Amino acid sequence: MIKLALVDPDPKFTEEMERLLEERSDMAISAVALDLNRALVIAREQKPPVMIFGPGVGTEASVSFVRKLTAEFPIGCVVLSFAATNALKMTANKANVVEVIQIPADPEKLISAIQMAAGYAQQLAKKEEVVEEEHKCAVVTVFSTKGGVGKTFLATNIATSISRMIEGRVVLVDLDLQFGDVGIMMGLNPDITILEFVDNTVDLSVKRIDELLVTHKSGLKVLLAPRDPESADSITGASVTSVISALKEYADFMIVDTPASFNDNILAVLDESDEICIVLTMDLPSVKNIKLCLRTLGELKYSREKQKIIINRVETNVGLKVSEIEKALGMSALAQIPSDKAVSLSINKGVPLVVDAPKLAISKEINELAFYYISKYRPDWVEDNFAAAG
Ligand SMILES: Nc1ncnc2c1ncn2[C@@H]1O[C@H](COP(=O)(O)OP(=O)(O)OP(=O)(O)O)[C@@H](O)[C@H]1O
Ligand SMILES: [Mg+2]
Repeated sequence: MIKLALVDPDPKFTEEMERLLEERSDMAISAVALDLNRALVIAREQKPPVMIFGPGVGTEASVSFVRKLTAEFPIGCVVLSFAATNALKMTANKANVVEVIQIPADPEKLISAIQMAAGYAQQLAKKEEVVEEEHKCAVVTVFSTKGGVGKTFLATNIATSISRMIEGRVVLVDLDLQFGDVGIMMGLNPDITILEFVDNTVDLSVKRIDELLVTHKSGLKVLLAPRDPESADSITGASVTSVISALKEYADFMIVDTPASFNDNILAVLDESDEICIVLTMDLPSVKNIKLCLRTLGELKYSREKQKIIINRVETNVGLKVSEIEKALGMSALAQIPSDKAVSLSINKGVPLVVDAPKLAISKEINELAFYYISKYRPDWVEDNFAAAG
């Protein structure tokens, strides 16, 4: 059975294809995408062997998309066009399009193009000689509906700590698209930002992602927020989903920093997260805010197991105890990060604290947290390292 994914904004296209395939038991439509962003997500998640691009997508857009798609997956693509000239067919062929079919499509030609595309996908799959193991990337999102509680400080340091402990690929993503501070805190220049990643024509193969991400001295790979707050408006929830799903193919671990609010981009990444690390500080407004935050997450049907609280800037004699906060929120804290002047110092130097002052109690606490994530999501690595250690 050949599974087909269709791409076209017009539902009539799907209806026509359904009619065409009505009598056939050897092929079936398995997914429908209304645009190329969705098509990319379907290709990554469902890996259909054949993808058919309807005329509504636009021939040029389809062809350049196929070039990018076939660099990533063994997939056979057929493009339907109102102007299937020989010149176009040649260009399309170079971009790995199996067949361009003139609209109105001759049913027999279309069926045989689908069969050819499935054969082509099989050939490509065979070429990938090494049998790939199933790839799993753990996604931890650092979130809080309260601003200024230390989300970015923690995200940058947890990510740096994980990348110093493991050999795998660790990526830090700055989803505070308007006012992202990851670049400043890590001492990195935003030469390439998420804006380049959401461009539909960019190739997001594993190799290309590796080249595009900014590399920190620690080995951590970073995807920075746009330079100007205005550019953030052009980034939609769908494009964030698509970037995150491409990065999941690339990375072993992903840490995501977020702004202090729920928006479409944040919901898109929370959906993809294995764990939501909710940060708060030791003051009543913060506790009240996080109580509402937890309630909203519950209403949005995020599982309770996914949610963990981290209390930052822990101090004594502030009129509120950790135990009282835990009681008020109905959950115990995964970590308690002390308050330390060294934090501001490291931020102002643009050097993560776990690198700048590894011996401090606060750095040790963050390293413990990083170890918790590694042992939870990649226990194999912990075992390997312990075995190697003796
Ligand atoms: N454990 C800590 N000890 C001392 N100071 C801290 C600690 N954590 C954070 N800070 C201070 O709090 C400030 C805000 O931290 P950060 O920018 O990480 O918060 P944020 O939650 O990301 O803020 P925003 O919501 O604006 O993105 C930092 O500039 C730092 O000086
Ligand atoms: Mg921040």
